[in-house]
Amino acid sequence: MRALVRETMLDVQDLIYPIFVVAGENIREEISSMPNCYHLSVDNAVELAKKIADLGLPAIEIFGLPEYKDEIGSGAWDMKSPVQRAISAIKKSVPELLIVGDVCLCQYTNHGHCGKLCGNYVDNDETLKLLQKVAVSQAAAGADIIAPSDMMDGRVAAIRAALDENNFANVAIMSYAVKYASGFYGPFREAADSAPQFGDRKQYQMDCANIREALKEVALDVAEGADIIMVKPALAYLDVVTRVRAEMNLPVAVYNVSGEYAMVKAAALNGWIDERRIVLESLTSMKRAGADIIISYHAIDVANWLNK
Ligand code: PBG
Repeated sequence: MRALVRETMLDVQDLIYPIFVVAGENIREEISSMPNCYHLSVDNAVELAKKIADLGLPAIEIFGLPEYKDEIGSGAWDMKSPVQRAISAIKKSVPELLIVGDVCLCQYTNHGHCGKLCGNYVDNDETLKLLQKVAVSQAAAGADIIAPSDMMDGRVAAIRAALDENNFANVAIMSYAVKYASGFYGPFREAADSAPQFGDRKQYQMDCANIREALKEVALDVAEGADIIMVKPALAYLDVVTRVRAEMNLPVAVYNVSGEYAMVKAAALNGWIDERRIVLESLTSMKRAGADIIISYHAIDVANWLNK
């Protein structure tokens, strides 16, 4: 009876699994703050992508650790970087799996900020030109969806124009439209080696206290051509998800980020919580709040549980 009257369904089809790729071969090293998540060389990323597709998961999002860092993050658009190589290798062996490319510079800059610096500030408009290069390089490698996470103003329009000019009109943009300056990214920054070397990201990421500003950010990204809009982090911001869902007529994604994952894993490893129950409850609540798409490091476990 409960199943018959259930209002919200969590489906394997809703989930995107994020991975971290590194240079080298046959590498599979667990990320200490994210149990059961790994730094993978491209060969192992391809193997995992096959398993992900077999589970019925529709998409994978690819983050990378570069072999070199510099002032402007030029490794981010290097076709020989792990991300670009992983995108083309996965597209070749698992063509049915959607590939999301994360566009940002923080993993690639030696200062760890998400854009080109001018003094102690990020130069928004100069950064747009670099983000265009990153997006086009990932599309050229075979990405189906470009997901800018840098939070520069105007980047959706800039990326859309660059993709169209380079014959990638069919590549979609999933914009991290509402991205808060959050403590919940801690484990990711360790995993991606992307912590800012000075200051914080408050020049470009949002204040957790603001919701009107979230609607403004979303409206701008929609006007600039975003196809999917994202709210990030997820659990502490479900009210924002509900508002965005109610006011916008586009698919809404949430990012169930690294800190949310790490807290569940830590408690589960201590035997303090029932992991499966907590994860399914949390992800169902994200859908109930209005999310259509959930990016989550739990996605493989959830697929295994739901497929049973
Ligand atoms: C890069 C980026 C971050 C995340 C995704 N892309 C970190 C940040 O903004 O510092 C966080 C993802 C997670 O915590 O799982 N800008």
